[in-house]
Amino acid sequence: MSETAKEFTVQLTDLAATEALGTALGTQLRAGDLLILTGALGAGKTTLTQSLGVGLKVREGIISPTFVLARQHPSLVEGPGLIHVDAYRLKDQNDVDTLDLESTLAESVTVVEWGLGKVEHLTDSRLELQLDREALTAAAEKPAVNPWEEEADLDEPRLFTLKAIGPRWDEPAFEHLKSTLLDAVHTGELHA
Ligand SMILES: Nc1ncnc2c1ncn2[C@@H]1O[C@H](COP(=O)(O)OP(=O)(O)OP(=O)(O)O)[C@@H](O)[C@H]1O
Ligand SMILES: [Mg+2]
Repeated sequence: MSETAKEFTVQLTDLAATEALGTALGTQLRAGDLLILTGALGAGKTTLTQSLGVGLKVREGIISPTFVLARQHPSLVEGPGLIHVDAYRLKDQNDVDTLDLESTLAESVTVVEWGLGKVEHLTDSRLELQLDREALTAAAEKPAVNPWEEEADLDEPRLFTLKAIGPRWDEPAFEHLKSTLLDAVHTGELHA
């Protein structure tokens, strides 16, 4: 059975665009949703998740969970809470299973940075999000941010790609999500 790829790419011209997209995305999610975030160190995965938390209306305080593998952000409006995971140091599915994300998945929105290849078994549907520092996509490995250059890092374009997988994201749900996100950043889809 052939299925059209539910996927699009958009340019996020600056930090504000990433925040607008994240907030809009947060308004579209519901309990049980799983999001996998991919992108180099400093690409903006945590930044995007912070805005997603604003749109979802969860309690603030999403900081990079690098040394805390999973953080729980309760809803402020009796909606789903947010589970924010950094899987950078987790090798595989077995490592992920120690976090017991299954127990919170159904009533939460679960966002996993560095989760590709590690969390897909949790549920049959997911959004795969990728952020690229456009100017640097050619460079294979980006070194950790140099603190002396941090100022120059403050506001840059990103390329954002979203791929929707599984029955949760049927054609109407995907098209609605896509148009909501494109509207939020006031731009059209990029065609490769
Ligand atoms: N357009 C943009 N979108 C997102 N972040 C941006 C943008 N322009 C600049 N930035 C900056 O890039 C940095 C992204 O850091 P962030 O912690 O979100 O990255 P990350 O992908 O979570 O990294 P890590 O892999 O280390 O967890 C922030 O300092 C943010 O202000
Ligand atoms: Mg991060």
